[in-house]
Amino acid sequence: MDFKQFLLVLRRRWRSAVAVFLLAVGISTGISLAITPQYESTAKVFLAVDVRNATDAYAATLFLSTRAESYADLAGSSELAERVIDVLDLDMTAAELSGRISSEVIEETSLITITVTDPDARQAQKIADVVTSEFQTYTEELETPGDGGESQIDVRLTDAPEYNPDPVKPNLVLNIVAGALIGLLLGIALAVAREVLDRTVRTAENIAEVTDAPVLASVGFDNQIKSSPLLTDLGTFAARTEAFRLLRTNLQFIDLDQKARVLVVTSAVPGEGKTMTATNLAIALAQTGRTVLIVDADLRRPRVASALGVDPAVGLTTALVGKTQIEDAIQVHEASGLHVLASGAKPPNPTEILQSRVTHDLIRRLRQSYDMIIIDAPPLLPVADASVLSTLADGAILVVRHGQTTRDQVVDAVNRVTQVGGRLYGVVVNMVAKRAIGSYYYYYYEETKPVEQQRRQGSRKK
Ligand SMILES: Nc1ncnc2c1ncn2[C@@H]1O[C@H](COP(=O)(O)OP(=O)(O)OP(=O)(O)O)[C@@H](O)[C@H]1O
Ligand SMILES: [Mg+2]
Repeated sequence: MDFKQFLLVLRRRWRSAVAVFLLAVGISTGISLAITPQYESTAKVFLAVDVRNATDAYAATLFLSTRAESYADLAGSSELAERVIDVLDLDMTAAELSGRISSEVIEETSLITITVTDPDARQAQKIADVVTSEFQTYTEELETPGDGGESQIDVRLTDAPEYNPDPVKPNLVLNIVAGALIGLLLGIALAVAREVLDRTVRTAENIAEVTDAPVLASVGFDNQIKSSPLLTDLGTFAARTEAFRLLRTNLQFIDLDQKARVLVVTSAVPGEGKTMTATNLAIALAQTGRTVLIVDADLRRPRVASALGVDPAVGLTTALVGKTQIEDAIQVHEASGLHVLASGAKPPNPTEILQSRVTHDLIRRLRQSYDMIIIDAPPLLPVADASVLSTLADGAILVVRHGQTTRDQVVDAVNRVTQVGGRLYGVVVNMVAKRAIGSYYYYYYEETKPVEQQRRQGSRKK
């Protein structure tokens, strides 16, 4: 993934990245607000050695520097904590209090800072006060020789513990900034991970990865499809009309030697737009003055008749069982002049019917009467019907739903066609998301090149 692709991924997946970012900011703010604030009070003491008792000042300095750490540790000792608890009558254990006291030697000096943390700023100062005075007493006691005499060490208070009204923890700003940074990284990581794990078809490259068949056209997602499903309901310059015009043009380049006459339109799984594609392709072809027949061979979920507003009861099955003559079973879609063979009554054994010799004979006969026959088929993966139909036809068009159909499903679907000796003419990418148009997807889908050009480029690559 190069930088440009990375930006495109962010552009496409920005919603989830922003959601993760906001979530992280929310969590870090929530946690910061939930944490009980802690206040600090710090005192500073100076350790002095009575030089009169020591051999000389140099030895005194050496003495202090070796001992300073030990003195500092005394501030956190449980003995000292016990004394402070007694003085202040605190309701806590020595260990708890020691945990709130920290001390350290200021480097290369004899100064020790003693810090007390408490949820109450006043209490922190009060405890620090007592800790410091008890520290002085305790240290001097320890340094008093056993046989009496004066303490060698003198602990002097240089800075009395102050009252500090600003909490030291939590640091709201720091936590939110940290949360925001973590959220940003996680958000970007999620966007990239989703992209890498996304196996759905989103670009023409995705299709090229799994099949040699060209992308014949791409049809954008149309919100108005419910109110105006057919090209005859749309204007000449509507995007969907343009897409089908391109599909029609591209089909001309297929099989130049042996003109394609019977086309089956299918897809891997249900609901990818086979019926809409088959019907509108048939209309687009009929609009050029050719004689075109659409056959609804989806005997399980027939929809062509209702899409074109003709009678669904008379059709393929009625003609096959001999109830009507084929000529009587064919209806006409007035707006386009397209001929329609609906599915007819629902049979219990669709695959068997489509495999039968009568069906083969029927299609062969119809071939003589029409310039083009478009067959609307069921999906390839759940049932065998479409594979059977692809052997009846000259070739198949595979409808792939943008961002929904996975590459594995395309592979399986292509195999279903080729395994029975069928021919895949190409792929129509349907319901291409708006935001995929106008980006790098635009290049692949919207400007789908004529098949010839794609072929030439393909063979040059090889
Ligand atoms: N380009 C499009 N934009 C928006 N919606 C679409 C588009 N193409 C198809 N649809 C909608 O998708 C749904 C399925 O379409 P259609 O019936 O053509 O699919 P199908 O593959 O034939 O389904 P089935 O497997 O049930 O036969 C319909 O509601 C249709 O209106
Ligand atoms: Mg259908």
